Amino acid sequence: MPGAAATGTRHFLIGTELSREELDALLARALELKAAPLCSDALAGASVALIFEKPSTRTRLSFEAGIHELGGHPIVLRAGELQLARGESLRDTALVLSRQVAAVGVRTGPDEMLAELAAHSSIPVFNMLTALHHPCQALADLLTVREALGRLDGVRLAYVGDGTNVARSLALLGVLAGMEIAIASPPGYALAEDLEPSGEGSLTLHTDPREAVRGADVLYTDVWVSMGDEHAARERRAALAPYRIDEPLLDAAAPGAFALHCLPAHPGEEISEEVLYGARQRIWDQAENRRHAQKALLELLLPPRE
Ligand code: CP
Repeated sequence: MPGAAATGTRHFLIGTELSREELDALLARALELKAAPLCSDALAGASVALIFEKPSTRTRLSFEAGIHELGGHPIVLRAGELQLARGESLRDTALVLSRQVAAVGVRTGPDEMLAELAAHSSIPVFNMLTALHHPCQALADLLTVREALGRLDGVRLAYVGDGTNVARSLALLGVLAGMEIAIASPPGYALAEDLEPSGEGSLTLHTDPREAVRGADVLYTDVWVSMGDEHAARERRAALAPYRIDEPLLDAAAPGAFALHCLPAHPGEEISEEVLYGARQRIWDQAENRRHAQKALLELLLPPRE
């Protein structure tokens, strides 16, 4: 059937499309690309569409800059710029994208939208953030931990706060990489208890942030009021107030523990200003690592053409 999804096309929708070996290799490659950012022309002559139905700073910057560094051409399409906004179907959009570009990234709300686009695409589709998943963020998170500690296997990472898409992707990819992931959230804000990541690591859910960070090498948090949660901002801030990453919480973790945050941050809410801009964090490395990790992902999704 002309334009139907090609067998063998690789998508990256939730992150666990990767095997443990592929994830390890991707992170090793990302470190090579970080050391020599212009060493690859894997996307020479290729265009990559980036569809943003929600705002972005890091994801847009890192994909646009990264695609350029790989010799490719990023085409950014914002909400309302595609005929999708006027009712054209996802199927027809996928068929046309597949005839024009080498891959497409999407930031949207419903995961079902991404899945339907992928089902009709003969080019790789990758997730730049959906309601449930943010796997590109998790790649950069793991890269930052590996860069700092030299390994992921057995590393304990404690996430404190809202059980967001970032927490879910971190759990899925962290366990795949062999990490011990502990997530502390208040009642009503936890990740689904039936989330069962597969891999050699482990996932434990807690309500007490101090219990979760005990022995942790890395502490991680995300905003208390995510995109789309603004209507419940007051009650979210009240429920999540005990889940702030600050110096006392870092002191309760393993010696040398450092903080991560996917950003954007709200200093004074989920993280103290002292930690965000201090010496006990790798947050700004983590933001930079989005580009290196995603370049390695694009190399994996788009093998050399004949
Ligand atoms: N962490 C993250 O995805 O940042 P942006 O929303 O700015 O892209």
